[in-house]
Amino acid sequence: MFLTRNKNSPILDFSLRTVLVVGASSGIGFEVANQIKHLGRNLIVAARRLSLLEENFSTNTCIELDVTNKQSVELLLEKLNKKQSFIDVVFWCPGIYTPMSYTEIDIEKAVEITNVNLTSVYLPFAKITKKWINGRDGFSRNPHWIWVSSVAGYNGLPGSCAYGPSKAALNNLAEAAFVELKAFNIDISIVCPGFVRTRLTEKNSFKMPFIISPAKASKEIFKGLRRGNFEIHFPKSLSIVLKLLKFLPYKFLFLITSKLLK
Ligand SMILES: NC(=O)c1ccc[n+]([C@@H]2O[C@H](COP(=O)([O-])OP(=O)(O)OC[C@H]3O[C@@H](n4cnc5c(N)ncnc54)[C@H](OP(=O)(O)O)[C@@H]3O)[C@@H](O)[C@H]2O)c1
Repeated sequence: MFLTRNKNSPILDFSLRTVLVVGASSGIGFEVANQIKHLGRNLIVAARRLSLLEENFSTNTCIELDVTNKQSVELLLEKLNKKQSFIDVVFWCPGIYTPMSYTEIDIEKAVEITNVNLTSVYLPFAKITKKWINGRDGFSRNPHWIWVSSVAGYNGLPGSCAYGPSKAALNNLAEAAFVELKAFNIDISIVCPGFVRTRLTEKNSFKMPFIISPAKASKEIFKGLRRGNFEIHFPKSLSIVLKLLKFLPYKFLFLITSKLLK
């Protein structure tokens, strides 16, 4: 009983689900959506770069969306309400990143990162989960919200003064939502990838350990969902080491993270 309460219902068959992938124009979100296009039935994809979406997905399933713009989000919700079957799985992938240290902070950029990666999740999450709670009888399977976060949220790392905190807060939000929404049979997952070769990591000039392709990342995500995991983290060779750092006394943690300053 205790162990099952800490799990989600496994998603074994996407052909039975109606899926929204936000941030599907490139990288991890694109790979996830592309897999679902082949596995599934009802798919809706959203991002700012509509032309990229329309190149890869059928036009009537593509929605232009800027998650930081309230009107744009409300329009998305309106469009979802008009669909024949309401979505019951959401992959929330939008994220931006700029390497940034506190000594050279760009405040505008830091606020933009926080808005895209964290603040933008509240409105759609609140509206969609409310609909799931109110329409509970209409769903034959548990609705499932999946956030793409990052291992960068595990520890405070130098050079990541906006991105890291935004992902740490997202992990925290997911932990709270998992417990609160269990009572309504709503499942929550948080995905914490290490380095993935995408537009986002192109700007890193350092060697990224254990970097993987977006295809491998999406494979890990689907494996975690089949297992009903709350947290899906990979590649394990990096994510487990970073997880263990969390348990170190600060004097040892700072000894290790200060080496990253260079
Ligand atoms: N790559 C990595 O190593 C790595 C590691 C850990 C976590 N992650 C996380 O994985 C997620 C996907 O990133 P990625 O690596 O696949 O990079 P990416 O290729 O740059 O994808 C980012 C996606 O977010 C969308 N997006 C950004 N700003 C948006 C906005 N204001 N409104 C709507 N959509 C927006 C982009 O679409 P448009 O630009 O078309 O709007 C794009 O589809 C992010 O949350 C990132 O933090 C990545």
